[in-house]
Amino acid sequence: MAAAVSAAGGLGMVGVGSTGSVELLEREVAEAGTGGRRFGIGLPDWAISRHPELVDAALQSSPMLLAVSFGDDWKWTERVRRAGIVTVTQVATVDEAERAAGAGVDVLVARGAEGRGHGTPAVGTLPLLDGVLDRVSVPVLAAGGITTARGLAAVLAAGASGAWIGTAFAACTESLVPAEVRRALIGASVDPVPPCSPTPTRRMPDRESAP
Ligand SMILES: Cc1cc2nc3c(=O)[nH]c(=O)nc-3n(C[C@H](O)[C@H](O)[C@H](O)COP(=O)(O)O)c2cc1C
Repeated sequence: MAAAVSAAGGLGMVGVGSTGSVELLEREVAEAGTGGRRFGIGLPDWAISRHPELVDAALQSSPMLLAVSFGDDWKWTERVRRAGIVTVTQVATVDEAERAAGAGVDVLVARGAEGRGHGTPAVGTLPLLDGVLDRVSVPVLAAGGITTARGLAAVLAAGASGAWIGTAFAACTESLVPAEVRRALIGASVDPVPPCSPTPTRRMPDRESAP
């Protein structure tokens, strides 16, 4: 997936989730970087707390950038910058953005609530991007719910230096998600899904006979 994104002109990111290991990271970056292709690495903060050796492995693979996200400790930053690698972190609030920029992170990703998942994103992507751009002077990418060229154009017009996209790529053939998940993503609409009615496990007494 990361190799395909880079081949198409983006910067493909290699991630390792909670089950990440140095072996997995090495295998993935070897594939992403085939033929000298550029790639980045995105690690969750809890993964490097549990396996600090992931940072060493990441540095050795010479990514274009290293992102560590979903924590508030940016001690890793100095070492990574010294190795000549661009440092990135995803932030969910303006305060967090200021702290990350103050700690020397080179590029911030303003990750709005549309991104869901990790962390506690509570503010929508566009208002968060606006607030972060007002308070920091480093380049800011926008993330969360960007799935189309129009979405990309919107965040660029709002002042982002680029977009950081996840879910949309899960619908690509290179993604490892099962075919039915890919079909559901492609068929998804912006209309709200009606709530499912719970399947009754036993017959409820009707109103007249209830005590
Ligand atoms: C399938 C999937 C896996 C992800 N894995 C990682 C990861 O390993 N490391 C990371 O920093 N972010 C990871 N993310 C989060 C993205 O970096 C990003 O915050 C998010 O995808 C942006 O919102 P979007 O999915 O609406 O585009 C992942 C996202 C998805 C959808």
